[in-house]
Amino acid sequence: MLVTVLSALSLCAGVFAQNAVVDQNIAQQAPIAKVELLADIGPHVSRPAAKAGAVADVVDRYIANEDSIAKAGLLANIGADGSKSSGAKSGVVIASPNTVDPNYLYTWTRDAALVTKCIVDQYIRGEGDSLRTTIDDYVEAQTILQQVPNPSGNVSTGGLGEPKFMITLDAFTGSWGRPQRDGPALRSTALITYANWLISQSNMTYVTQNLWPVIKLDVDYVANNWNSSGFDLWEEISSSSYWTSAVQHRALREGVILAQNIGQTNVVDDWTTQADNVLCFMQSYWNPTGGYMTSNTLGGRSGIDANTALASIHTFDPEAICDAATFQPCSDKALSSLKVYVDSFRSIYSINQGVAANGSVATGRYPEDVYYNGNPWYLATFAVAEQLYDALIVWDAQGSLNITSTSLTFFQQFLPSVTTGTYASTTSTYSTLISEISAFADGFVAINAQYTPTDGGLAEQFNKDTGAPLSAKDLTWSYASAVTAFAARNGTINGSWGAKDVKVPAGQCQFNQGPAVPTTFNVVATTVFGENIFLTGSIDALKTWSPDNAIPLSAAGYPTWSVTVNLPASTSFEYKYIRKYNGQVTWESDPNRQATTPASGSFGFNDSWR
Ligand code: NOJ
Ligand code: NOJ
Repeated sequence: MLVTVLSALSLCAGVFAQNAVVDQNIAQQAPIAKVELLADIGPHVSRPAAKAGAVADVVDRYIANEDSIAKAGLLANIGADGSKSSGAKSGVVIASPNTVDPNYLYTWTRDAALVTKCIVDQYIRGEGDSLRTTIDDYVEAQTILQQVPNPSGNVSTGGLGEPKFMITLDAFTGSWGRPQRDGPALRSTALITYANWLISQSNMTYVTQNLWPVIKLDVDYVANNWNSSGFDLWEEISSSSYWTSAVQHRALREGVILAQNIGQTNVVDDWTTQADNVLCFMQSYWNPTGGYMTSNTLGGRSGIDANTALASIHTFDPEAICDAATFQPCSDKALSSLKVYVDSFRSIYSINQGVAANGSVATGRYPEDVYYNGNPWYLATFAVAEQLYDALIVWDAQGSLNITSTSLTFFQQFLPSVTTGTYASTTSTYSTLISEISAFADGFVAINAQYTPTDGGLAEQFNKDTGAPLSAKDLTWSYASAVTAFAARNGTINGSWGAKDVKVPAGQCQFNQGPAVPTTFNVVATTVFGENIFLTGSIDALKTWSPDNAIPLSAAGYPTWSVTVNLPASTSFEYKYIRKYNGQVTWESDPNRQATTPASGSFGFNDSWR
């Protein structure tokens, strides 16, 4: 089975490449004028086949120009020689050359790792021997950075969770949302990808001497800290974040495989145990009613967020097919989530007005975003396209697609009459869906194309009313998101990280086991008829700040509302009560309530609504 899928996957790269023939004449021309693109795209009113072709043409022409601009954009932002990163030390990836409104002339561990992973993948594909030096410089810079004491701690006391540094490799000491626990995971993924390639070239020495020490520190950090809260990838709220858990899970799994391959077996048991725990925890983010993976709920947000589409594409493993437990791009949960996410931007950005309900639109970080008044981001809109391209790669490779009750709404956007079931590539249902979804995916790239200025520069955001580029210019991560989306459109796949072999542990997650303390929550709250009181909080047993999954209290002792919940012993946590009335959620006022469960016995509170 595996052999079949793999050979089909390598074939499929060829098929995609044929579909996306690059027009060499156009590639030589000046950048495509915005106005021409606007004319070609139009609103996607239930795309007939010819229209799909037109979008594909627009995207072909955009990529012919933008791919090399984006690849050059990455290198320009890497010290010491990058043309836009003067002052950055060797191997330092700056977030953007922008120094005011906003000042992004720092190096973020997350951005730098994602950019380097993109460069490593290019290098492995044979797209430039000189990239090797860029990668080795990054390795050297990270080796130094890991040891730099900073406000999150030193290398052994939590310093690896520091989100950003000066481009001179010094600590950034201003106040910031710290720690952010995705950084070490993403950095180890970039380095492990490189290590695996070096091993395939029989270059063990560099792996064991230079890469392994850095990787081990990072993956140990993940193993020890994955269950502690930290700031999310948008640096705003400290709680649990699906993105962070998903990239941590990947890092632990591929860390185990690398450790085995180079004989560092002492870490294998611990990392495997923690990987199983994280995978178990990842399942708890699913919101079955809303049909989406809850990204991050603290602060009264919906939890609908680019966080999860990004998690899906950055943990894509084609060998895992459409596995939902690891949230693979073609899994029913990831497709359902993607639809909910995309739909949440249809009415809130003026530039999305007039687009059909199943058309491609500009998307941002999350609908409640207020940063620069909340706008579409290039990297978010590219992520939607990339998730769809990844899904298309797998369907093509397996020669069928499967629709479950969870993914049905996603597929019905393209074929309202479709029902659950498995459709082989020989069926017309399959052909219709594939061509519609291909055009839908291209539509997101076309949106970014439409709002890319003629010089091809990619900022962080574009204005939700005018489409004009906004916030940091030449955002390195924006360029990387273009390169990876374009590669996925070409059917390119990167190495597996072992996702196909993982299974959610049966029964309760291990971190939820151990002594439980029955905890009774009593709260005096007067309510109107039809209004109910719920409880949610920072730990899994309290539904990790999810208003949708919050625990209902009983009104049997009204006006005292009550519920008893089993909480893990000796655990500190935060909680709040919420009111739900007519679908409206009202949170208690800040700050969060805080407590620590005892080691044994029972526990409880007599609270009054705040
Ligand atoms: C800067 C962060 O990088 C950004 O993500 C955030 O939205 C703003 N600060 C506001 O907190
Ligand atoms: C703000 C974004 O929210 C964050 O994810 C990113 O790391 C920084 N900007 C730097 O690009």
